[in-house]
Amino acid sequence: MSEENKSSLDQLSALCKRRGFIYHSSEIYGGMPGFWDYGPLGSELKKNVKEAWWQFTVRGREDVAGLDATIIMHPKIWKASGHLDTFADPMTMCKECKKLMRSDQIKDIYEDQKKKPQPKIAGSDFFCPYCGGELTEPKPFNLMFKTVVGPIEDAANTAYLRPETAQAIFAQFQNVTSTSRQSVPYGIAQMGKSFRNEVTPRNYIFRSREFEQMELEFFIRPDEAVEIMYGKVVTLADNPNLDGPVQDDWGWEVWHKYWVEQRKKFLNAVGLPTERFVEYWQKPDELAHYARACVDIEYDFPFGRQELEGIAARSDFDLSQHQKHSGQSQMVFDDPLKQAAKKMDDAAKKAFVEKVQADWVSRGKDALEAEKFCLALFEGKYVPHVIEPSAGVDRLMLALLCEAYEEEKLVDEKGKEDIRTVLRFSPKVAPIKVAIFPLIKKDEAQDKLAREIFTKLQKKVNVMWDVSGAIGRRYRRQDEAGTPWCITVDQQSVEDGTFTVRERDSMEQKRMTYSQFLEMMYDALEF
Ligand code: GAP
Repeated sequence: MSEENKSSLDQLSALCKRRGFIYHSSEIYGGMPGFWDYGPLGSELKKNVKEAWWQFTVRGREDVAGLDATIIMHPKIWKASGHLDTFADPMTMCKECKKLMRSDQIKDIYEDQKKKPQPKIAGSDFFCPYCGGELTEPKPFNLMFKTVVGPIEDAANTAYLRPETAQAIFAQFQNVTSTSRQSVPYGIAQMGKSFRNEVTPRNYIFRSREFEQMELEFFIRPDEAVEIMYGKVVTLADNPNLDGPVQDDWGWEVWHKYWVEQRKKFLNAVGLPTERFVEYWQKPDELAHYARACVDIEYDFPFGRQELEGIAARSDFDLSQHQKHSGQSQMVFDDPLKQAAKKMDDAAKKAFVEKVQADWVSRGKDALEAEKFCLALFEGKYVPHVIEPSAGVDRLMLALLCEAYEEEKLVDEKGKEDIRTVLRFSPKVAPIKVAIFPLIKKDEAQDKLAREIFTKLQKKVNVMWDVSGAIGRRYRRQDEAGTPWCITVDQQSVEDGTFTVRERDSMEQKRMTYSQFLEMMYDALEF
């Protein structure tokens, strides 16, 4: 969205409805708050976003393997991960109008209504932003959707729709490791539906109750293992080259920053310029107790600067929790580490243990546990640590739509002003790549040639056929859909096989042969 047109979601959501990007779920029954459906153009956009992520994160690399796990998993997974006990928002209810709301969002609700918060007691809670009534004390509300597996509805059969895709990766870590021919450092990626019973779903598809995530768990050696192997651990102070190939002597800090940079490259590649988002590094008191660092990539949505995705350094917390709760070892055997440890004499090992103990104790951890950890390292064994880049498909789609939307002022040769609504998507994610028009619908030769081009391109990318209306109107329809190229077949095409290609953003038209067009298109679609 250009600066002057980014004020509201209203125009964008109207376009999305009108052109078949996004509809309310179950609209004929009045809709369901927090649930959205993607229409013909929206579903193509979504597929392209997911394919781009998979290509960039999995297929385009040698050190990431894919996974596609179930949405409903053993409920113990959610006990181990902490979601059963702590995945909750503080919720409050108005004693008068009975409206439920997140107590940490009351200020925002006032802001949405352009009203001043009304304090109940100065500096403390607020009154209901809807009716001014008194609010109940905030209570934690678990966000997981419950369901029952099998015909008997009792506690033993209670299961949950996954609130994130990540946990399946941890639960399948050993299977993937032993079947993928990968070894640490390496990652497992998964994308798919997640469900959160958000108290107040807000801002269109930004915060929904059913959404999709694209998550990577990138497993790394603990820094102590790197130190045994390489004598030192590369940190950011060493100014490592994050653009080149990854290095085995990187510590967690470098791996974390490397993934922040990778995510930014991906966002650039799908059409978000670097200057349109910011890195927010969480402060130590904002971090989860097990996390060593967490960066939110924030985007300036029309409703304010908000988290688009996050990259967290989660230590060995998740795998250790599953090891504890399942009783199954989540350790890996790392032979190069064992061989490196063999070269240390007893004095060197003793000094190493003491150093690790001092470090762990300074971070509030147990000295005995530190010793056990070191002894396992000397055998080449450890629970891997993890860096987690976690993105939301729908949230990224919303950012791409906001970024692409423009109402462009045009002036024709006669000085007449006009507005062109255009979605300036990157060709990589554009729902329709090419639209094909015969210039004169009733001209049999033009129609036949255009059909031939259409049929050939249809086997390669998503194409659109349009014969209705003047050519200018056909272009405008495609501008609104974000189609990067329109091919028009005219009389000259029938004579020499060339056609005009109209480029969406510049509106320039060039004559091309079919093979010239293919080359230009593939260049633009490649990662
Ligand atoms: N495994 C880590 C995790 O799930 P999160 O910050 O809760 O972390 C990651 O979620 C991303 O998933 C967010 O940055 C956002 O893009 C997306 N996301 C989370 N909740 C969402 C919701 N209710 N609606 C849409 N997207 C959501």
